[in-house]
Amino acid sequence: MDLGLRGKVAIVTGASKGIGRAIAEEFAAEGVHLALCARGQALLQEVAAALQRQHDVQVLPVAADLSTLAGVQTLVRQTVQRFGGVDILVNNAGAIRAGSLLGKPDAEWHEDWALKVFGYVRLMREVFPVLQARGGGRIINIIGGAGRQPNPGYLAGGGANAALMNITKALADEGGPQNILVNAINPGPIRTERWDGLMARLAAERGQTPQEVEAAWLRDNPLRRPGEPREVAALAVFLASPRASYINGAIIPVDGGATRCI
Ligand SMILES: NC(=O)c1ccc[n+]([C@@H]2O[C@H](COP(=O)([O-])OP(=O)(O)OC[C@H]3O[C@@H](n4cnc5c(N)ncnc54)[C@H](OP(=O)(O)O)[C@@H]3O)[C@@H](O)[C@H]2O)c1
Repeated sequence: MDLGLRGKVAIVTGASKGIGRAIAEEFAAEGVHLALCARGQALLQEVAAALQRQHDVQVLPVAADLSTLAGVQTLVRQTVQRFGGVDILVNNAGAIRAGSLLGKPDAEWHEDWALKVFGYVRLMREVFPVLQARGGGRIINIIGGAGRQPNPGYLAGGGANAALMNITKALADEGGPQNILVNAINPGPIRTERWDGLMARLAAERGQTPQEVEAAWLRDNPLRRPGEPREVAALAVFLASPRASYINGAIIPVDGGATRCI
């Protein structure tokens, strides 16, 4: 489908794997030039080269650690140098580890939030003026359903997600009058390396197979299966497009109907 995005420039973080990679692939198929970020350089370069080969787009891989301010600034500086501006930011790189109040040490909270909270906020802060200079744009935050479904075993993840939902909604108020639309997607269980790792870890803890853990996890999911990264990517690219011109401050689940609230 032609969503009217051809020639736009997007930053996608966490783009070497999983949801971020699927979003990069969908953008490239729509003719969007890309700045892709992850820490691991080799895989990122592979993804960038493949997208450039398959689609008529320019792709800039930027290997950086987005849990640091320097990493965030490097990404934005290199993107603006290469493309002259940015139209779309997709904040996606996140890796919060499970853990309860008594089981999760201080250092882990700091490390986890440095990426998923500070990384998102810093990137929005760096990109916002670039979007203003462009006369508008889109910010899409990939957050996570745990922000609406508190879980004592995933305190740092739920807390970070709730904060990011609040920040998304508030920034949509500020961006709207300037034609900068800010929205979020809350994925449910999506089959990525991160998901498979979680299933394997829980299986080892419980003496079960990953398949048994997954089946139990999905018992209350109306679709009884994890989602695929491309099922999140389809919405991200739509939200970035002119077709979504009246959607602002929305936080949309992509979870097969798993979230238990209206
Ligand atoms: N999968 C799910 O079920 C699910 C559910 C709810 C929410 N989410 C959210 O969706 C987002 C993507 O999840 P995913 O499952 O696609 O993850 P994933 O498969 O683990 O991929 C994570 C990506 O982020 C990059 N990354 C990790 N740490 C980074 C850092 N410090 N700086 C820059 N890049 C970094 C990774 O590359 P490097 O390791 O090379 O840096 C990789 O490209 C996350 O924010 C996650 O919380 C996922």
